[in-house]
Amino acid sequence: MILLQLVFAVAAYAAFSLPKTDLALLGPVYRAQLDPSADAFVKAATQATEAVQKAVTSGNTSYGILDTKGTSFSASFFIVGSDDPLFEYHFEAPDLNGSYTKGNLTENTVYRTGSLAKVLTMYVWMVDIGDSVFNDPITKYIPELAAAELIPSNALFPTNWSEVTVGALASHISGIGNNFHTGDLALTGYGTPPVAADILLGYPPLDGENVPQCNFYGPQESCTRQQLLNGIIEHPPVYPSYTTPVYSNLAFAILALAYEEITKVPFDVSFSRVYNESLGLSSTTARYPPKDADAIIPRNESFSLFSYDLGLEAPAGGQYTSTKDLRKIAQSILDSELLPSYITRRWLKPRSFTSQWNAAVGAPWEIYRKEILANTIIDAGRIVDTYSKSGDVGAYSTFIGLVPDYNIGVTVLAAGDAPQSSVYAIRDILVDIYYPAAEAAAKEKAQRAFSGTFAAKDRNSSITLTVDGGPGVTITNWVSNGTDFLAGILAPYSDFRLYPTELSASTGDDGLTYYLYHLNSLQQNGEPFTQDFWSPYNNEWIMVDALDYNNLATDAFTIGFDKQGVVQSVRCQALRSDMYRSG
Ligand SMILES: *[C@@H]1O[C@H](CO)[C@@H](O)[C@H](O)[C@H]1NC(C)=O
Ligand SMILES: *[C@@H]1O[C@H](CO)[C@@H](O)[C@H](O)[C@H]1NC(C)=O
Ligand SMILES: *[C@@H]1O[C@H](CO)[C@@H](O)[C@H](O)[C@H]1NC(C)=O
Ligand SMILES: *[C@@H]1O[C@H](CO)[C@@H](O)[C@H](O)[C@H]1NC(C)=O
Ligand SMILES: *[C@@H]1O[C@H](CO)[C@@H](O)[C@H](O)[C@H]1NC(C)=O
Ligand SMILES: *[C@@H]1O[C@H](CO)[C@@H](O)[C@H](O)[C@H]1NC(C)=O
Ligand SMILES: *[C@@H]1O[C@H](CO)[C@@H](O)[C@H](O)[C@H]1NC(C)=O
Ligand SMILES: *[C@@H]1O[C@H](CO)[C@@H](O)[C@H](O)[C@H]1NC(C)=O
Repeated sequence: MILLQLVFAVAAYAAFSLPKTDLALLGPVYRAQLDPSADAFVKAATQATEAVQKAVTSGNTSYGILDTKGTSFSASFFIVGSDDPLFEYHFEAPDLNGSYTKGNLTENTVYRTGSLAKVLTMYVWMVDIGDSVFNDPITKYIPELAAAELIPSNALFPTNWSEVTVGALASHISGIGNNFHTGDLALTGYGTPPVAADILLGYPPLDGENVPQCNFYGPQESCTRQQLLNGIIEHPPVYPSYTTPVYSNLAFAILALAYEEITKVPFDVSFSRVYNESLGLSSTTARYPPKDADAIIPRNESFSLFSYDLGLEAPAGGQYTSTKDLRKIAQSILDSELLPSYITRRWLKPRSFTSQWNAAVGAPWEIYRKEILANTIIDAGRIVDTYSKSGDVGAYSTFIGLVPDYNIGVTVLAAGDAPQSSVYAIRDILVDIYYPAAEAAAKEKAQRAFSGTFAAKDRNSSITLTVDGGPGVTITNWVSNGTDFLAGILAPYSDFRLYPTELSASTGDDGLTYYLYHLNSLQQNGEPFTQDFWSPYNNEWIMVDALDYNNLATDAFTIGFDKQGVVQSVRCQALRSDMYRSG
C-alpha cells in the first residue's frame, strides 16, 4: 500500500533554506476564528476555487503536474464547529465517467483510505484504551512475540521483542521493519514485478526455500495470524527501537491484535462502534462497504483494488471513508468529542524528529511544519504544525491534515490512474491559500476583540492594546498606579505581545469568559538573536512565567471577553488590579 513511495522517492524537491522565524511561543498567536463567514475565509474560497479550476484546466501547478484525464479527486477545507466545509471541490475526470456507483462524485462518495487508515485505527485505540499503555512492551499483549526465542549477544537477529513498546509501534519508531509479504519481490503481488523477473534483476533463485504462499497485497490467500507473527519474528530488525523513525505497516497489524487482547473486542466491531455509532457516520467502514454504497471505483475492480481485503493488515491501510465522514472525524478529534482534551493534546504531539527540519512523526501522525508570515514589521514567519496522514492503496491516494493552531482541517482524496500527484498538488495549493487566510481571520477577530484602552477604577492604571503587523496583541501604553510601566521595569524591552492559552473560566456572574494570555517582552523590536544559533533568547518558552510578584506571574494576563467576543477587562495577575474597557 505504500509501494507508490518507491516511485515517488526519486521526485526532486526544491532545496529550502530556513526562513526568519518570529519569537512568538509555539502555538496559535490568536484564538482561532471559527466563523466561516469571516472575510478572509470567504476570499479564500474564491481564490481556492480559481486555483483548483486552473489546476484541472491546465494539468499543471507550481507543485507539479496532475492527471486531469484519468484521475478524479475530492478536496475540502473545514473548520471546527461548522457543519458546512469552508471549501469543497469534486473533480470528475473525463475518462472515469463510468466509475461512480451513484453516477457522480460528492462529499458522500467512498474512497479507500490506504494508510490514512492508521489514523482511524489509532483514534479507535485512543478512544478505547488511551495512551497509558504506550510504554508497555508488546510482549505483554502478543504471546507469540513473548515466546520468540532470542539468541544471546545477537542483536542482528532476531528482534528482542521485550524492548519494543506499544507506543514505539504506534509512532513508527519500533525498529521492526515495514512489511510482511506486502511488496515482497518473492511473491506475485500487486505493485511488484513478476517473480520470474527478479532473477534477471540479479536476485538468486529461491528453489528449495520455503516461500509462504500468503500475502496482504496480492492474489494469494491472506496470511493467518500464525503466518504473520512467524514472518515478523523471522524478519531481522532494522534498528533498535527508539533510534530513528522507519515507516511500518506491520506495526499496525500487530497493534490491532494487541487492541483485541486488551479490550477482548474484535477490532472491526470497535471500529464500527466508534465511527458508525458514536460519530453517526455511515460511509466509514473497516471492511468492504455494502454493495449499494456510493463509491468511486476507477475503471474496474482489479485495477482499483476497491474491494481487495487486506486481512490482518487492514488496520494499516484497508479501510473506507468519504470526504464528509473525514471532515466529521477530523472535527471530532480537534474538538475532543470522544477524548478528554488532555489526551487529544498529548496525541497531537510529535514522538520523534525526522531527518527533515520541517517534519516529525507522531502516533501515527506525519507532522509537517510550515512557516506562515506572522510579522510584517520584521518580515518573519511563525511555524504552524499540521498533524497529517497520507495513504495509498490500489488506485487510491488520500490525505488528511489537522491544524490545531487554527482548528481547521484539510482532506484530499483521489482515485484513478495517477492519484498521488493530484493529492499532493491540490493539497499544497489549498494549504498555501487557507493557512494565511486562517491566520488573517484570527488576527482580524483579535483586532475587533482587543483594540482599545482599559483603565482601573480605583487607581491610575491603564493599558492600551492593539493588533499590528506583528503576531499577537501588542501593548502600546501601560501605566500602573501612576507609573509608566513600559519605561520602568520593562524599559530594556521594546516589543510587548500577548498570546492566548486555552485555559479559561466563566464562573463569575459578570457574564464574561476569562482566558489566560501570556506577555512576551522582547528586545530589538522582536528581531531574532540570529548571531547565536542556540541562543535561549530565540526560544521564548524558557522565559514564560519566570518572574513572579508574590507567586503570581508578571507575564500572566487574565482577559475577560463578553458574549460578543469583545474584551471588557484586562488584568495582569502580578499587579492584582482589573482594568475595564474605557475606549
Ligand atoms: C508547470 O508550471 C510551472 C510553473 O508553475 C512551470 O515552471 C513548468 O514549466 C510547467 N510545466 C509544464 C509541463 O507545463
Ligand atoms: C464515457 O465517455 C465516453 C467518451 O469520453 C463515452 O464513449 C462513454 O459512453 C461514456 N460512458 C459513460 C458510462 O457515460
Ligand atoms: C449528483 O447526482 C445526484 C443525483 O443525480 C444529484 O442530486 C446531485 O446534485 C449530484 N451532485 C453533484 C455534486 O453533481
Ligand atoms: C532483551 O531485552 C531485555 C530488556 O532490555 C533484556 O533484559 C534482555 O537481556 C534482552 N535479551 C537478550 C537475549 O538480549
Ligand atoms: C451505520 O451504518 C449503517 C450501514 O452503513 C447505516 O445504515 C446507518 O445509517 C449507520 N448509522 C448512522 C448513525 O449513520
Ligand atoms: C481493468 O482496467 C485496466 C485499466 O484500464 C485494464 O488494463 C484491464 O484490462 C481491465 N480489466 C478488466 C477485467 O476489465
Ligand atoms: C500606588 O502608589 C502609591 C505611591 O507610590 C502607594 O502609596 C500606593 O500604595 C499604591 N497603591 C496601589 C493600589 O498600588
Ligand atoms: C496617571 O499616570 C500617568 C503616568 O505617570 C500620568 O501621565 C497621568 O497624568 C496620570 N493621570 C492622572 C489622572 O493622574
